[in-house]
Amino acid sequence: MSKMCGIIGYVGNKNANEIILKGIKRLEYRGYDSVGVAFVKDGKIIIKKDVGRIDEVHKKLNFLEPESNIGLAHTRWATHGSVTKGNAHPHLDCNEKIAIVHNGIIENYQEIKEFLKKRGHEFKSQTDSEVIAHLIEEFSRRVDFENACKKAFSMLQGSFAVLVINKDEEKIIGIRKDSPLVIGINENESFAASDIYALLPFTRNLIFLHNYDFVVLEKGKVRIENLIEGKVEREVERIDINVEETDKKDFHHYMIKEILEEADVFERALNQDELKVKKFIEEIKKAKKIFLVAAGTSYHACLAGSYLLAKAGIFTRPIIASEFNNFLNAIDEDTLIIAVSQSGETADVLEAIRKAKERKAKIFSIVNVYGSSLTRESDEFLLINAGFEISVAATKTYIAELAIFLLLHSKLTNKKINKEEIKAKILDLLSRSRREHIEKVAELLKDKQHVFLIGRGLEYVTALEAALKIKEISYIHAEAFPGGEIKHGTIALIEKDTPCIVFVGEEKEKILSNTEELKARGGFIIGVSEQNERIFDIWIKVPQDGEASLIYQIIPMQLLAYRLAVLRGFDPDKPRNLAKSVTVL
Ligand code: G6P
Repeated sequence: MSKMCGIIGYVGNKNANEIILKGIKRLEYRGYDSVGVAFVKDGKIIIKKDVGRIDEVHKKLNFLEPESNIGLAHTRWATHGSVTKGNAHPHLDCNEKIAIVHNGIIENYQEIKEFLKKRGHEFKSQTDSEVIAHLIEEFSRRVDFENACKKAFSMLQGSFAVLVINKDEEKIIGIRKDSPLVIGINENESFAASDIYALLPFTRNLIFLHNYDFVVLEKGKVRIENLIEGKVEREVERIDINVEETDKKDFHHYMIKEILEEADVFERALNQDELKVKKFIEEIKKAKKIFLVAAGTSYHACLAGSYLLAKAGIFTRPIIASEFNNFLNAIDEDTLIIAVSQSGETADVLEAIRKAKERKAKIFSIVNVYGSSLTRESDEFLLINAGFEISVAATKTYIAELAIFLLLHSKLTNKKINKEEIKAKILDLLSRSRREHIEKVAELLKDKQHVFLIGRGLEYVTALEAALKIKEISYIHAEAFPGGEIKHGTIALIEKDTPCIVFVGEEKEKILSNTEELKARGGFIIGVSEQNERIFDIWIKVPQDGEASLIYQIIPMQLLAYRLAVLRGFDPDKPRNLAKSVTVL
């Protein structure tokens, strides 16, 4: 059973329970099927875990007791296999001396499990992760705890960030390979977590681990060695980010808070180091083949990028990361991969760039999370600087990714971006009266089962992203098509009052004639455009301004998806079956 999740560990002179609870809540966006904690108290390991959201389980089991100075926590998102209390982490060895939390997949767990079963180990869960605890137990019969962990970790295949505690020692042992793990350090305190967001309320002194870094955390002390390279020095980086900025404040949900930040986010994304942008441009001009690789919303940014770069005369192939494998034979040293990822940890994206690298391609990336695997494994990267995005559905980071492609387009075409004007228009689109109008549109759509969206060119990309937003948080089936394509089949589904959202852009006459085709079959037309048209049943007014329309048209759609989720009684921040960082293939 594989899973992806958030993990955190603390050892220090403060109350570990409080720190771990606060930290794991900040990782809940990574998974929220089940949650668990492990503490050491009076020479015993205490485990509390169950299925459910963190607050629910905490209410039932009280994670704040018994108070301890050392502990681990885990929030889980199952990819296959059941969501049960037994499968929730932490997992113990047979003698309940060792507890582990794990993010990733142990690919050879069946083999290890068979080996351990023959040696008398008994398993309580169906997870791959439990083998780690038993493997350490097995080696502990012969060597000390640290060396037992080393031996156990050396046997693991797959991806893993693991934290381990033992009932007799005040230390946490950890490792990472292809799953993220960040270390934090203060005087008398040490931390480890899946991302810096979980650690920022407690420390600003961070160490980003590399693959196979083996780490031993004691109160205020961190030792790192690499299981392949041996002794290594890892720099402690001081990260100054305002934690306030990342809190939900008075908003009902992170999603709306994040959408409302989009004007500033757009501006920040454009503030790039000139030299780095120049390198991107040089490489784009030089490369013989360019692939734009990403997943989910970031893939839509790539698709937009491919249209923008094509306008500048550059041909690129946008490709969904999990499909990239099929194109490997076409990759060589003259290939440039531009990988786009909010998290920088999406497993499919990382696998794609690693394989491309083996074939000597250059890897440039566009990323939000500094210190993520993608920033470390790329030849060059641009940070989109969108700030933390907590809501599972990407909104502001899509705007920031688009901003980077607009910037590349403007450099290639020498067409200036009017930052102030675009910012003012974004603010207007987010104003109260605009939001109220969207709320009315949502009322009309909230009980519908299907929505169809069409656009041409850049507006087709917007239709795809708008459909994704509607599907993932409101669970209404939404499908997007190029305006010219819907008549080649899908128009058969249009009946009286089927909602059709139409994005009008540069090819106005053509898209309006496609709209006529929908209207003639009874379609209920919602037009997103600069001008009202006779054919629209409802009009959502947006500015029309060439490439920047990519930004203007998606904003009301993000607001619409948000409103639909709320009206239908769903939590837009934590949609069912989804996780923000998909760290499994
Ligand atoms: C997940 C998220 C999406 C996101 C995609 C790619 O599926 O739910 O919102 O767009 O991953 O994530 P990335 O971090 O690589 O942009």
